[in-house]
Formats: sequence, structure tokens, C-alpha cells
Amino acid sequence: MQGTVTISGAKNAAVAIIPSAVLAGETCILENLPRIQDVDSLKNILIKLGAGVDYTPGDCMRIDPSSITTTDATFPEVSSMRASYYLLGAMLGAYGEVELALPGGCVIGSRPIDQHLKGFRALGAKIYRDEARNVIRAQCNRLRGAEIFFDVVSVGATINVMLAAAKAEGQTVLSNVAKEPHVVDVANFLNMMGASVKGAGTDVIRINGCGKLHGCCYSVIPDQIETGTYMIAAAATQGDVIIKNVIPPHMEAISAKLMESGAKVHEGDDGRDFYLRVSMDGRPRSVNIKTMVYPGFPTDLQQPMMAYLCRGVGTSVINENIFESRFNHVKELRRLGASITVAKRVAKVKGVENLRGGEMFTSDLRAGAALIVAALSAPGASRVHNISYIDRGYEHLEHKLRALGAKIERVDG
Ligand code: UD1
Repeated sequence: MQGTVTISGAKNAAVAIIPSAVLAGETCILENLPRIQDVDSLKNILIKLGAGVDYTPGDCMRIDPSSITTTDATFPEVSSMRASYYLLGAMLGAYGEVELALPGGCVIGSRPIDQHLKGFRALGAKIYRDEARNVIRAQCNRLRGAEIFFDVVSVGATINVMLAAAKAEGQTVLSNVAKEPHVVDVANFLNMMGASVKGAGTDVIRINGCGKLHGCCYSVIPDQIETGTYMIAAAATQGDVIIKNVIPPHMEAISAKLMESGAKVHEGDDGRDFYLRVSMDGRPRSVNIKTMVYPGFPTDLQQPMMAYLCRGVGTSVINENIFESRFNHVKELRRLGASITVAKRVAKVKGVENLRGGEMFTSDLRAGAALIVAALSAPGASRVHNISYIDRGYEHLEHKLRALGAKIERVDG
């Protein structure tokens, strides 16, 4: 692949920031949102709750939460996506109550939300679980600041409790928090609405609750995972690609591993945008990967990276430390001739000289990205099924890849 690709707004920031807008009580304008299924679903959820939402994909989203009439979020759109769990923290903070259909999303392990609930309880909320309806109800007359130490480092729990704490009385101190770029982005958004959130991006976040927040205009950061996916695809196709609208420090773990494998990664600034240029000659050297919380190697890029290493010289060992079941893509990669063995959370990838085109089935969002990377680097035609998973998180994937010279088309049915 050769040419230039521009990265969209970050999915994982957008899906937290959109529900957070209800905390403002006034109109918020969100810019640089990615045109993806999850953003569309959240727009529809807010409209069903009564919010005024104007959105033309590719343009900004205007959210007026002042017309919200219900805290009942138990309709099917809510359970169809995982990030709808941010409505718990946002609605609890804004209205003191919420009823939420439990979230679905990608199946990559059990994905409990006990740490979110632990945080809400510490702030004084009562949580009721209706097992029969698969619904959670959270309620509180007055949220009060608290000291909360998370048992596991969780992006979702960090953000969700931060949302509720932004409106709690007094100070909240969150320890052992996630430091991912989108945690910082949500904190910046809350601060733009008048909240006082300090320390996001470190292990401890302090929040001084504010009774009232206000509307604002905010632009979402570029997507770290989309950037990494194009970096990996560029190397996997022995290409030379310039990736624009990126934040290079967010990409250090990925750049380091790609360089270790023999790719060239150059950071640049064209006076308007930061960019990364990734090029590669020949097959990659094998490298070992351990997925870690930020700033370590992100679990969301483990799958595309494995697809790249299928053609490595030697054997790469991949440890998945974040999710217990994130190797669904392995059996699909084997269909292209990859040689991979899995024991619990460890995959051994014995590089083969060439993959061959084949038919593959996507099981989750990032598995889908991995299968696309594999298909791009395999001679012959491949078909990737169930691409609706990919549409949840990648804006115009096939257009962007085609512009880089890939022969890719969307086929109905
Ligand atoms: C977020 C990202 C997802 C990414 C993941 C890890 C969004 C919308 N999704 O997911 O793309 O793969 O971070 O970077 O931002 N855990 C618990 N109890 C909890 C919460 C989490 O045990 O209450 C465990 C999970 O099972 C998992 C680990 O903590 O093993 C990390 O999960 P978490 O960071 O919460 O992931 P998500 O927020 O679901």
C-alpha cells in the first residue's frame, strides 16, 4: 500500500464523550467524531431519551440534553453496544438515577462491570440488579465524593466513575486508574464543561465535584487504534504510507514493535498536522508482544499485529494480558495458511513465507481488522464476512484502503 491516509476521531473517546454531554444540562457541540456505527447508535439512544440531537455524519454533533424526559434506558439499542454503560455514570451524575439494559458489544471475554459499580456505590449510589430483565438500576439522592481504589485497571470504570464524580459533592480521588489517551480526552471534555478533573493520564485522578456544568464545543482526539491498524497494514503489505492526523506519543508502543520487526517509522510535522510514515521491505522479523494497559502495547492492536506476524521470520510469542478470550481470529488466520498455536492466553505464531487468499469470518471488531490486514498481505483474493463488526469502529475502511492502492470492495449479502 502506498499513499496518505487521514485518521478519524477516536471511537473510544467519542463513545464516552457523547453520553457525557448529558451532564452539561445545556447544548454541547462535538467535533471530529468518527462516522461509525457506535456513534450512530449513541445518537439514537440519546434521541430516545428525549435529547435534541442534530447530526450529519462528517459534521459536528449538537446535543441538547435539556429536553431529556426519562432515565429509563432499557430499550434494545442500549444493550446492543458495550459503551452504553457510560450512561450509568452520566445519568447518575446528571439526574441521580438511571435504569440501563446491560451492555453487549464485542465478545472477547466475560467483561464484568463490578469496578464501575464499586465506584458508584462508594459515591453513595444504590445499585439494584434485575436479573430477569437483564437491567441495572442505579439511584442516589446525593452523590458524595469518595476515595476509590480500583482492584483492576479498567478504562470503562475509570471514565464511568469520573463522570458521576464530576457532579458529586466534594472531592473524589480515584486510584489505580487507566491512563489511556481517551481517559484524558474525556477528562478534558469534562473540564471544558466546567468540571474540575486533575491527574488524568497518571495513576491518580482527583475530581472536585461541581453542582452545575455548562455546554461547550469540543473536538475529539484522533483514534490511536485506527492509527495503529494503518501502521500495521502498511508494514504488512511492505508498503510506504503517510498517516495524518495522529498523535505520535500515543503510538510509541506500536512504533517500537514495528521497528523491532524491521519496519521504518518516521514521525513528522507538516506544519499543519503531525504524521507518521511507515514503510517496510520484505518479511518482518519475529517479535514478542505482551498486551498491557497504556502506555503498553494495546490489546486492541494485538489481533492486527498477530496477522502481520503470521509472515514473520521465526516464531513470535503473543501474551494477551487484558482479556481472557481474545484469540477468536486465530482459526480464521489459519484458513490463510498461518501457523499459530494457542495455550490459554499465549499464542505462538510461527511465521510462514506466504499466506494465501481465503474466506474468513469476523467475530469482533478488532478481529475484523486483523482479518483485513491478513487478506491485504495474502496473494490472491480473500473474502471477509460479518463486516458489520468492523463498521462499529472503522470509518470508511474500504475507501481509505482503496485510496492506498488496496483492491477491496464491499459486497452485499
Ligand atoms: C475499553 C475499550 C476497549 C479496550 C479495553 C482495554 C472502550 C469503549 N473500549 O474496554 O476497546 O479493548 O478498554 O484497553 O473504551 N474488568 C473487570 N471489572 C470491571 C471492568 C473491567 O474485571 O468492572 C476487567 C476486564 O474484564 C478486562 C480488564 O478489566 O480484563 C480491562 O477492561 P476495561 O479496561 O474495563 O475494558 P473496557 O472499558 O470494557
